Amino acid sequence: MLVSAKEMLEKAKAGKYAVGQFNINNLEWTKAILLTAQELNSPVILGVSEGAGKYMCGYETVVGMVKGMIKCLNITVPVALHLDHGSYEGAKACINAGFSSVMFDGSHYPIEENIKKTTELVNACNVLGISLEAEVGSIGGEEDGVVGAGECADPNECKMVADLGVTMLAAGIGNIHGKYPANWAGLNFDVLASISEKVGDMPLVLHGGTGIPEDMIKKAISLGVSKINVNTECQLAFAAATRQYVEAGKDLSGKGFDPRKLLAPGFEAIKATVKEKMELFGSVNKA
Ligand code: 13P
Repeated sequence: MLVSAKEMLEKAKAGKYAVGQFNINNLEWTKAILLTAQELNSPVILGVSEGAGKYMCGYETVVGMVKGMIKCLNITVPVALHLDHGSYEGAKACINAGFSSVMFDGSHYPIEENIKKTTELVNACNVLGISLEAEVGSIGGEEDGVVGAGECADPNECKMVADLGVTMLAAGIGNIHGKYPANWAGLNFDVLASISEKVGDMPLVLHGGTGIPEDMIKKAISLGVSKINVNTECQLAFAAATRQYVEAGKDLSGKGFDPRKLLAPGFEAIKATVKEKMELFGSVNKA
């Protein structure tokens, strides 16, 4: 059964660990993430960007696939199906399609506009028991066409948005989508600490989980981060494993061209990446 992310994130915040959001692109991705969560007895959030939603033939297809998989694979750990960096229209479409969680990314609007649109969605989500993530201060880099400058969030604006009744809050603290450049300054823990102080119990979300060093992840969790998004790292792991298979000529031997064989190393690589992250985030056995 799909659940809202509210309860799992409140438990994570109280227990000082984080739940991973892993973005999905297709059946192999979804199956790898769900099976790993079940094996590790960990709650999990499946992230779907608007681009990936389109790629998977629309939000209804995604809901059907995920619900079917939860049933057929006997997945009993809490699973939230979450729209990642949604537009206002995208959030409404996912709410209608049966997602259990949505993010409305209004970080590129002036704060007044962000607050107005977020407030409307708070009301819609509350009625339906769907969790809602808001964002203040954009995440740097580019993800699926969503480009952010990467400024640090203003803690007072974070407090204003948290008080609207959202479930969790993404705040820019120097994090970037995709690979981090060699001259990256690192996460800004002073900003994170003052946001945490202002928003109290509100679970905070760290985007751009790929490539953040372990010690920074642990420190961020200790300062109130309870949801960490990982996307690029699974893509890199999948691509490297697939490349290795093809470069070794395995697709040319026997029935190695069968997609169920060709995609297997990438599938296993996603599982290994998700396992590593769940162990690092501390969500193992927290289902
Ligand atoms: P990465 O691709 O850098 O892991 O970021 C994922 C993310 O923040 C999804 O919203």
